[in-house]
Amino acid sequence: MYVSDCISINESGHLTVGGADTVELAKQYGTPAYVFDENEIRKNLREFKKSIDEHYGGNGHVSYASKAFCCKEMCRICMSEGAGIDVVSGGELYTALSVGFPSEDIIFHGNNKTPAELEAAVDNNVGRIVVDNITELEMLNKIAAERGKTAGIMFRIKPGIDAHTHDFIKTGQIDSKFGFALETGEAMQAVKAALSMTNVKLRGLHCHIGSQIFDIDPFELAAKVMLNLYKEIKAQTGVELAELNLGGGFGIKYLESECPKPYAEYMKNVSAVVKEQCESLGLKMPHILIEPGRSVVGAAGITLYTVGAVKEIPEIRTYVSVDGGMADNPRYALYHADYEVVCANKAAEERSETVTVAGKCCESGDLIQENTKLQPVKPGDILAVLSTGAYNYSMASNYNRIPKPPVIMVKDGEARIVVKRESYEHVAECDI
Ligand code: LLP
Repeated sequence: MYVSDCISINESGHLTVGGADTVELAKQYGTPAYVFDENEIRKNLREFKKSIDEHYGGNGHVSYASKAFCCKEMCRICMSEGAGIDVVSGGELYTALSVGFPSEDIIFHGNNKTPAELEAAVDNNVGRIVVDNITELEMLNKIAAERGKTAGIMFRIKPGIDAHTHDFIKTGQIDSKFGFALETGEAMQAVKAALSMTNVKLRGLHCHIGSQIFDIDPFELAAKVMLNLYKEIKAQTGVELAELNLGGGFGIKYLESECPKPYAEYMKNVSAVVKEQCESLGLKMPHILIEPGRSVVGAAGITLYTVGAVKEIPEIRTYVSVDGGMADNPRYALYHADYEVVCANKAAEERSETVTVAGKCCESGDLIQENTKLQPVKPGDILAVLSTGAYNYSMASNYNRIPKPPVIMVKDGEARIVVKRESYEHVAECDI
């Protein structure tokens, strides 16, 4: 039942996260609520950093992909761990800057950055802007020139790799809205264009092949393909790029049956490939960046709900309805994503029933999990959905004008609110 080290069961038989009793948390803060274990987040960030130190001589750094879970406190945690941050919108950039995140440690992504977003990136001296297309390159060069600045850029490349994951979250193949294609020569053309421009400085290339990937081979292949391109760029332009951004995408444990490899293994294998390739191609070892998102926060977070109606449809199924749903976790509706569900106040009991956990939105597809194992529950019980730390809060909506739940951060058993629960006033705040 446990999908991460931060989840346990205490002597009352209650589920705990980061040492805090989730039934008490539900009482104190209400439901639905997202709860994170800060130590688990920090542990994951450190593990990634350590893997670069151990296997790549420390010649790289971790840039947390904040789209997985972005709020001010998360930015502060990254800052205090010495991790960089990757943002993908003006809103994420604003959040990071608002807590004093060092702008040189921010990487700005996105396949269709607006002029205002590019201006904000240049005005705030963001460390790297990962340029997605020629229109953006030209726009950025102009914006930087108007300000008498030079923007440090990377290009997003589609390395043509088909990672084995859900269609909607794989991005490395040629038919993708992200980045420059290799096969068509588009990437090389962009490199040459950038090298001829006065107000952008090309530092390296970036690729991100997809998300929730368990195999290491596609990452190794991506590194190989990228370095071949570095060699080709050197041959054609005489320029040797000094940085290589390999993106994120490392899979996490959603189900007990899943067994992701330790992140150190990824870095060990990829480092070996980079070393080999560089030697055989006559390249210097580039500074490496990795951008884990899900693997930093995913298993560090859970969502607490209160059970409402339990509807048994004989011979068909039992619906257990909760006081949240697709508005706070759209991932089942979008990807049929897997989760483990536990009754927090009966966590020590066997999960002997098979039920479907449904949300409260006015939509049949508003499910959290179908045909999942759960303890026998009744109205008023507390449900915990595990491993909801990534892409839940950050993908939440106000569908049905449902206010977003708060985010509670637990550290060494002590809880604090880091994002307040929305009120109806918040939901209607911008209405005229
Ligand atoms: N870097 C780039 C450029 C990315 O596009 C992403 C994720 C990451 C890093 C972080 O990937 P991670 O380590 O979190 O897998 N909403 C989907 C996931 C979309 C991922 C988008 N890009 C989901 O809920 O599964």
